[in-house]
Formats: sequence, structure tokens, C-alpha cells
Amino acid sequence: MTTQRKAYRASIVHSVADPKDVNLEESYEYYEDGILVVENGHIVDIGHAEEVLQRQPQNLDVREYKDKVITSGFIDTHIHYPQTGMIASYGEQLLDWLENYTFPEERRFKNPVYAHKVAKLFLDELTSNGTTTALVFGTVHKESVNVFFEEAEKRNMRMIAGKVLMDRNAPDYLTDTPESGYQDSKELIEKWHNRGRLHYAVTPRFAPTSTQEQLSTVGRLLEEYPDVYMHTHLSENKKEIEWVLDLFPERDSYLDVYDHYGLLHKRSVFAHGIHLSDCECQRLAETDSAIAFCPTSNLFLGSGLFKLPKLEQHGVRVGMGTDVGAGTSFSILQTMSEAYKIMQLQQEKLHPVKSLFLATLGGARSLHLDDKIGNLAIGKEADFVVLDTHATQLMRFRMQQATTLEEKLFVLMSLGDDRTVSETYIYGEQAYDAHFKDVTKLVS
Ligand code: GUN
Ligand code: ZN
Repeated sequence: MTTQRKAYRASIVHSVADPKDVNLEESYEYYEDGILVVENGHIVDIGHAEEVLQRQPQNLDVREYKDKVITSGFIDTHIHYPQTGMIASYGEQLLDWLENYTFPEERRFKNPVYAHKVAKLFLDELTSNGTTTALVFGTVHKESVNVFFEEAEKRNMRMIAGKVLMDRNAPDYLTDTPESGYQDSKELIEKWHNRGRLHYAVTPRFAPTSTQEQLSTVGRLLEEYPDVYMHTHLSENKKEIEWVLDLFPERDSYLDVYDHYGLLHKRSVFAHGIHLSDCECQRLAETDSAIAFCPTSNLFLGSGLFKLPKLEQHGVRVGMGTDVGAGTSFSILQTMSEAYKIMQLQQEKLHPVKSLFLATLGGARSLHLDDKIGNLAIGKEADFVVLDTHATQLMRFRMQQATTLEEKLFVLMSLGDDRTVSETYIYGEQAYDAHFKDVTKLVS
């Protein structure tokens, strides 16, 4: 942990409000020549360089960057670490993709040695893409979650994860029972929830793979541990929705299945929500539940076009998710680029300042962690990224014609990816430096 005060001088931009609630210019702060000051893992000062230098001690240790932008660490509100090994699997839509690619890969996580290897690689990928917090699916095996949390704890990352609950409509090798799923989840909650920077999410895969009895146990866990998260999938694919309505004919809608078992609360995060009715949107808003918008996944699996304006009109909180391995990139910059295109296909615009909000403070709000992370306000935890606006020849060339911050941000998001992430800081400590990435690999 940084006990010594350290400062970082670069262009600094961070989100301070949702652009839908205030004027666009009031939704972010920008210091063209700014300084961020960090101590004991927290942000202690931020502002224009000259002003910060005046109020800080003279011997302040300042690291100076050229052509770099500092912003808050990215937040991924939906991702599967066990799907790292089968990202980019060809040819199927959701249900066949699960059966043919996902389940066989998740089977391998019975072996904790394999799970640990993937957890390390996964967290390395997040870090090198500038993602400092994520809401993460494990597999049905409780050990997959133990090794994940152990690795996240070593790196002091603010992470949320959970064991998958799945007691039907999946291969035998990948199912639990209502009782074993409940007991394993309980044990993991007791061990990991609120330990350091970690939190637990009760994680039923989706309605079709849980019996009514298992969904009841999820409701019970949320009653027993009211501040744990609930993380699942919702209304992603048309065939999936039909299947849910066949399996639960007594329920009014897909969301109503989860609602009936008490799964909607302020720490509930549903991935996708592409094909929701007005009633479902309204119910999500009433219960303060959040949706993870996963553009690269929605395009890759041909699931459909997410309706951001509709969800926002209903007052539903939305964060960004990569949904690796249905999603095709760990990069939140790439994810924003695809989000922009999804909006374009619906004659809507996604402003880069809104994108920045969704990728940082919006994600933190979706997870109710905005008192700790999501921007660079004084007092928050020092999870931040240093982005290189000249990362590639093309970006350097294009940036010459980008005059405003908003234009620069848009170019960063449209052309950027992990090459754009120069450094990542977690709780005030440097966790990644692009200059040394090959060296690190040789050493470890
Ligand atoms: N629905 C149920 N399981 C999954 C999964 O692993 N990925 C996606 N994208 N959707 C799901
Ligand atoms: Zn998913």
C-alpha cells in the first residue's frame, strides 16, 4: 500500500455525474494539465497542476506524463472468468453456444490447478485493459471461486464473484443440487464477502438451468445476507425467452420468474435485458436492480440490439459488461466502440462523455460502489488508468485533428484497446506498466 504521498501529472478527465441528469459539461471534470495526488491507496487531491502544486508540500514526488490521459479504472459489470479459454468460438447463438462450447470448457474448472491458472491470466487481462473492478461468474465448482478470490486478494482488486448455481438443463458433470448449491454459496459468502476489497454475488446461471426449488434457495440466501449481490442473465435471446415461458407457464414474464423468488433487489445485476417489456423495465427500476449492457457479446451471439434510451427512460441503472467469452474483448474501450455502433443501428447517438460515465461512475453506481470507486474524487480509492493518446501510429495521426476533449475521447474509444492502456494503478499501486509487460511475462 502507498503510505508515501505520490502525484501523477497528465491530462486528467473523470466523470462526476450522469449526462442525462445535468448539462453535458457539468457531467465531467477535465484538467488539461492536471495532477492527481494519492496516499494510502486513496485520492487525496486533484486539480489543475499549478493549483495543486501550490497547496501540496514542496517536496511532492511527481511523476510526469506526456501525451497521456489519466482517468478512473474501468468497471466491467458482467464477465465470466472461466470462459477465457473459449472466447471467439465459432458459429452458434446462445443456447447451442452454451452446449457446444461453454459447458465443456467450464467442466475443466473442477480442477483447481487449471482454475487458478485461468484466474491469473484473466486478472492479468483485466489489468492490462485498464479494468480495475468486475462482477464475475465462476463455474458451478466452489473451488473455482476460492481460487479466483485468492488471486484477486493478492492483487488487492475490488472484485465481486460467485459460484454458479445450476441444477437442471445442463450436463450432469456441471450441476449441483438446491441443497449443495445453497451450502456452498453460504460457505463462500462467510469466507469472502466483504473481506478486504472482495464481495460475493449469489449467481444462478439463468432461469432455465435452475429448478423452482433452487431459485427459492437464492431468495433465502438474499434474505439471510441482504448485502450480497445477485448476478444472473435476463432476456438475452428470443429462443431463451420462449424456453423460460415454457418452463414457468405460471409466470407473467421472464423477469417475473426472478421476481417471484425474491431475486430483485438493489444489489441485483442482470446481464443483457435486450428484449424487455415496459412492465419489466418498470419493475427493474422499482426494485433498483441494474442491467449490464454487453455490446460485443450481443453482436457476437446475434442476440439483438440493446435499448439504452428505453431503460434510462424507465430509470433503470445501466453499467457496461464485456461478457467474455461471448463477448469478444476484455477492453472496455472496444466495448464502448461497439456500444456506439449498436446505438447507430437504432438511429441513436452515444456521446463519448456518456460512454466514459457508463464505463466508470455508471458501473460503480450499478454496483452501489460509487462511494468507493468510479471516479477520481478526493476520498475515493485510487484505482486509475493512464491512457496513451498516441498508442499507435494511426491514433497519433488522427489525434492531430482532434481539437476538443470530447473528440479525443471519441477517438480513444473508437480506436483504442489494450494498446492504449499505458499503466494501471490499483489502490494506489502500479499493477501494470505496458513498457514492462514482456519482461513480466518472462519473470513469472
Ligand atoms: N445465459 C446463460 N449462461 C450464459 C453465458 O454463459 N453467457 C451468456 N452470454 N449468456 C448466458
Ligand atoms: Zn454472461
